[in-house]
Amino acid sequence: HSVAILGAPFSKGQKRRGVEHGPKAIRDAGLVDRLSNLDYSVHDFGDLSFPRLDKDEHFMQVPFPRTVGRANQLLSTAVNSAVGAGHTCVMLGGDHSLAIGSVEGHSQQCPDLCLIWVDAHADINTPLTSPSGNLHGQSVAFLLKELQDKMPKVPGFSWMKPFLSSSDLVYIGLRDVDPGEHYILKDLGIQYFTMRDIDRMGIQRVMEVTLDHLLARKQRPIHLSFDIDSFDPSLAPATGTPVNGGLTYREGIYIAEEIHNTGLLSVMDLVEVNPVLGASSEAVEATAGLAVDVIASSLGQSREGANMAFQETP
Ligand code: ARG
Ligand code: MN
Ligand code: MN
Ligand code: MN
Repeated sequence: HSVAILGAPFSKGQKRRGVEHGPKAIRDAGLVDRLSNLDYSVHDFGDLSFPRLDKDEHFMQVPFPRTVGRANQLLSTAVNSAVGAGHTCVMLGGDHSLAIGSVEGHSQQCPDLCLIWVDAHADINTPLTSPSGNLHGQSVAFLLKELQDKMPKVPGFSWMKPFLSSSDLVYIGLRDVDPGEHYILKDLGIQYFTMRDIDRMGIQRVMEVTLDHLLARKQRPIHLSFDIDSFDPSLAPATGTPVNGGLTYREGIYIAEEIHNTGLLSVMDLVEVNPVLGASSEAVEATAGLAVDVIASSLGQSREGANMAFQETP
């Protein structure tokens, strides 16, 4: 089996500089070697290049709408062809607005995909509810069919239309949800697990209910969109919107292992690693190393160990 790595050095979904250097930081932390050791043939397609548009005025209070729309259109095409070529695809961000193109491109090949969003934030604001205007806090709103009539026509996004049903989405790790987002989560009846839910139920039960919710009726491809800020800031300090009280190392790795164990992971995003925001090189390396651990665990690195003789046969 083979893995495609797509770097997406992009930051215009938010206003802080540096998250465009995420792909390099994650590669420098040893991603390709770690995946090669898992017996994948690794195809690193390098970094996509995104055009700089010189005229891109605000839309309502949303900055860089056409720049973000165009980058996501290019990413969508790249993910579409990587999945079409038979690879499991790993998209390295960049900010979380990139999930729009990543999930959209994936859906072109796998129209029945389901989405697991691991994040401190719900990223389901619309341009009308967003307190910041930033598109990395609005990605999910672009994907959902049920929000179509609440979404204005944002310039730069006419290439796509929403395709995901709210029942095909589960959130894990939420702890900073804006009022408009909370209304949408409740109104659409979206399945979500906050950090409080993880405290109450334990991560084992959270994953059981998550996978049951998405897969019990039928097995289908999984898109994992993993925001590094889901982890506690003590583990992942180099990120733009850290929130206290996040996932422990073991909770994050358990989520990844359970998703691997389904055998259904098709595309994953690892976003919001911002090497410029680390207080020291150690802080940056810890954050990027954690990103590599999550990706490796999602693709089958096991805490039990593994050897050829006892390899599971599909
Ligand atoms: N909810 C806030 C907003 O809409 C923060 C979003 C943070 N998103 C992220 N992908 N880190 O701006
Ligand atoms: Mn820079
Ligand atoms: Mn987040
Ligand atoms: Mn996010």
